[in-house]
Amino acid sequence: MSGEPREEAKAGASVTGLSHVAIAVEDADSLAAAFVSALGATRGAEELLDGGALRVVFVHLGPVTFELLEPRSPEHTVAKFLASRGPGLHHVSLEVADIAAALARCRDAGVRLVDETPRAGAHGTQVAFLHPKSLGGVLVELSQAREP
Ligand code: CO
Repeated sequence: MSGEPREEAKAGASVTGLSHVAIAVEDADSLAAAFVSALGATRGAEELLDGGALRVVFVHLGPVTFELLEPRSPEHTVAKFLASRGPGLHHVSLEVADIAAALARCRDAGVRLVDETPRAGAHGTQVAFLHPKSLGGVLVELSQAREP
């Protein structure tokens, strides 16, 4: 029955879109410039996350958004990612309406969680990461937009 809490939780856990694809890079400005000149991208907002240890620059191409991740501290996980693998795809971010419900559903399904509870992402979002070992080697971010 659609009115059961469990069914409502499942509906809230559904993916509603692709938020962004994130790329780890040493120099976000030069990669952003490449997207602008080569593909006509629009440079979007940028901000510092994780206490200033990570600079994030958004690039928009029509309905597609890239999130360029430029670490500012060698201790940041993205810096360690760059050191071990070099620049490249870091994560895919999926929009969900209810991140708590989505995380609970993933946990029930046996997916390893990087974040047991949601935390603050860029521009007011709540985000949580799922472990790549459970999802084909791809780090997946769940993202819930801030309340309207
Ligand atoms: Co992201």
